[in-house]
Amino acid sequence: MLIKPITLSDCHQCGLIAEQANLTSWSSDKIENSLNAGVMGWAYWENNQILGFILLQVVSIESEILSIAVDQEMRQKGIAKKLIQHYIDSIEVGHKIFLEVRKTNMPAIKLYEKCGFKKIGERPNYYQSPTEDAILFQLEK
Ligand SMILES: CC(C)(COP(=O)(O)OP(=O)(O)OC[C@H]1O[C@@H](n2cnc3c(N)ncnc32)[C@H](O)[C@@H]1OP(=O)(O)O)[C@@H](O)C(=O)NCCC(=O)NCCS
Repeated sequence: MLIKPITLSDCHQCGLIAEQANLTSWSSDKIENSLNAGVMGWAYWENNQILGFILLQVVSIESEILSIAVDQEMRQKGIAKKLIQHYIDSIEVGHKIFLEVRKTNMPAIKLYEKCGFKKIGERPNYYQSPTEDAILFQLEK
């Protein structure tokens, strides 16, 4: 197991995982453009294959998780938790991480709660297709 920064040559594989996860706004081109624009990304590797990835926007001592996804066949094996923990280990005390998640996305909500995130609010009708509320989470290291 290895967690490494996402490089431009990894974007295709990450895009496939995002597509499989129905994260339609995270095509390989969008991931590549985001990395070029300064978004930070980490990929989880096993046997020379990417099994999951996380994308974060970092501004000073605050970050936002923009996307996280794990290969469908490899879920519930701790991969997403390891990706988030890897990032938490790298930040300084006082750094805050924020994210939004669909209210019905139970696997993701469980993941964030298990990683220590606390609910700080809701945004009604934040998502489209289908329209759904967002839950806001925050973790302060
Ligand atoms: C959300 C997602 C990234 C979780 O990845 P994962 O590698 O399966 O998660 P982990 O195995 O690290 O699980 C972390 C914790 O969440 C819990 N969890 C994860 N999926 C769960 C599920 N389907 N039901 C209940 N609990 C779940 C795990 O039990 C684990 O708790 P534990 O520490 O007590 O064992 C994955 O389901 C996914 O790719 N979903 C599609 C994309 C998505 O919705 N991304 C988030 C929004 S951007």
